[in-house]
Amino acid sequence: MTSLNGHAVPSDQAARRRADHHEADVVIVGAGILGCALAVTLGRQGRSVILLEASMKEPDRIVGELLQPGGVQALEKLGMSDCLEDIDAISVKGYYISYHGEPVELDYPRETPSSPEPRGRAFHHGRFVMKLRQAALACPNVTVVETKATGLVTSTHSKQVLGVECVTKDMKDCYFAQLTVAADGYNSVFRKGNLPHKPTRRSKFWGLEMIDAPLPSPCCGHVLLGDIAPILMYQIGTHETRILIDIPENLPAASVKNGGVKGYMRDCVLPVLPKDVQKPFLNALETGSLRSMPNSFLPASTNKTPGLMILGDALNMRHPLTGGGMTVALNDVCVIRDLLSPEAVPSFEDTELVLKQLSRFHWMRKKSSTVINILAQALYMLFAADDKNLRALQQGCFRYFQIGYVDQPVLMLAGLLKQPLVLVSHFFTVAFLAIWVQFRQTPFTHLLLFPFQSVMVFWTACVVIVPYILAELWS
Ligand SMILES: Cc1cc2nc3c(=O)[nH]c(=O)nc-3n(C[C@H](O)[C@H](O)[C@H](O)COP(=O)(O)OP(=O)(O)OC[C@H]3O[C@@H](n4cnc5c(N)ncnc54)[C@H](O)[C@@H]3O)c2cc1C
Ligand SMILES: *[C@@H]1O[C@H](CO)[C@@H](O)[C@H](O)[C@H]1NC(C)=O
Repeated sequence: MTSLNGHAVPSDQAARRRADHHEADVVIVGAGILGCALAVTLGRQGRSVILLEASMKEPDRIVGELLQPGGVQALEKLGMSDCLEDIDAISVKGYYISYHGEPVELDYPRETPSSPEPRGRAFHHGRFVMKLRQAALACPNVTVVETKATGLVTSTHSKQVLGVECVTKDMKDCYFAQLTVAADGYNSVFRKGNLPHKPTRRSKFWGLEMIDAPLPSPCCGHVLLGDIAPILMYQIGTHETRILIDIPENLPAASVKNGGVKGYMRDCVLPVLPKDVQKPFLNALETGSLRSMPNSFLPASTNKTPGLMILGDALNMRHPLTGGGMTVALNDVCVIRDLLSPEAVPSFEDTELVLKQLSRFHWMRKKSSTVINILAQALYMLFAADDKNLRALQQGCFRYFQIGYVDQPVLMLAGLLKQPLVLVSHFFTVAFLAIWVQFRQTPFTHLLLFPFQSVMVFWTACVVIVPYILAELWS
């Protein structure tokens, strides 16, 4: 199926073209979550693939450690579930949410009474990525090259992208393909001039690895809510537990004057952790390395540059609170697999057809990405509440979880329920519940003000969710 000027080329010849001439059907920048899955998928479809990666060493990062059941399912669809084996992964059965110390456990529900119980997986990010890379290396139609991409090679007389420029061990180098894929992650060098939006960042996650920390409910992702921004904890190996602490930009409590981030950990985070976790946390704080990552928001947009496809975090990001990024990336590969299959697009040389399919991709991917994106942003706004109305919504949200109307919301978190309207209706139910809870708490003497307060809570709910709905509809 590998094609050169529209003619089928035997795969050994294609392999030689990749090695000798640096030429393929598709060149993918970034052997991360998306890049590897896409390389394997296209390679298995018979395309000739070059996969470029800046460092083939095992990544050591605090990102991408909890794969939602929806992502596990996408990996199965791609025939790559074995990448979750032999990495000491922990099976995740749901969430444990604590609100000012009051807990509620939300297990991932079955989609139908007869379907199996959904399970997520938590692991060391680097181990999972190495498994994905091994899968790519094992594909005869994929050639993996360690090199740093620096920019695009563009045709001088049209805007057509012809490949990428790289630096390999201080030497300049080029790779050419009919289709170039940018999957180089959150700090992508390919957005400029090719995408209309820039990422925005309102907070960072600071991460530590705790050893033998007994969590209140093992096998659950833990979310701690209270007076400070949310804290996440989940086991990522037999002995290791990740803790991620959200710190909003310019937070006074984490300023240098107040002891910086370490001071914040000791003064504000330590006291709200479950008792058993406090010692492992202090140990990690003393001996481990504290690392941070920006929490970005980037609405997706249609790929319009001929010969280029931007995917993964380079295309679309949401707050990592709900752990949805890898699920979105793997779902996107499933959609691309069908839209760019050899049956749909016989040759990537047909730039017009590829662009048409990419415009379809923009809308088709929304089925799975919209819910994950809006949910992550809206929940973050509530969970990091910093004013009275947001706090009311936060409390309403927790009461909602407690009452037990949670199957659909939890399926949405899991990446299994993909209906944006269902999300919006739950969100506004939470808003009305929040107003009801406020009503019950308002002393008799203050009831005159209540209509005003309830309008403010409702208005705040709109301010939280509407911009993200519009971002999905308009971008
Ligand atoms: C703090 C934090 C926690 C997160 N937690 C979760 C979670 O629990 N669950 C979840 O699903 N998602 C999580 N995410 C999101 C998730 O990490 C990303 O959505 C996912 O990794 C995106 O995959 P990607 O392939 O687009 O990028 P990446 O996985 O980042 O891969 C990009 C690859 O490109 C390579 N690269 C970069 N530049 C170049 C270059 N110039 N040349 C060659 N190669 C290059 C990099 O080395 C890397 O291998 C989290 C994000 C953050 C910030
Ligand atoms: C590699 O590509 C060829 C076509 O060039 C195809 O016949 C073959 O099935 C592919 N191999 C694998 C293992 O996917």
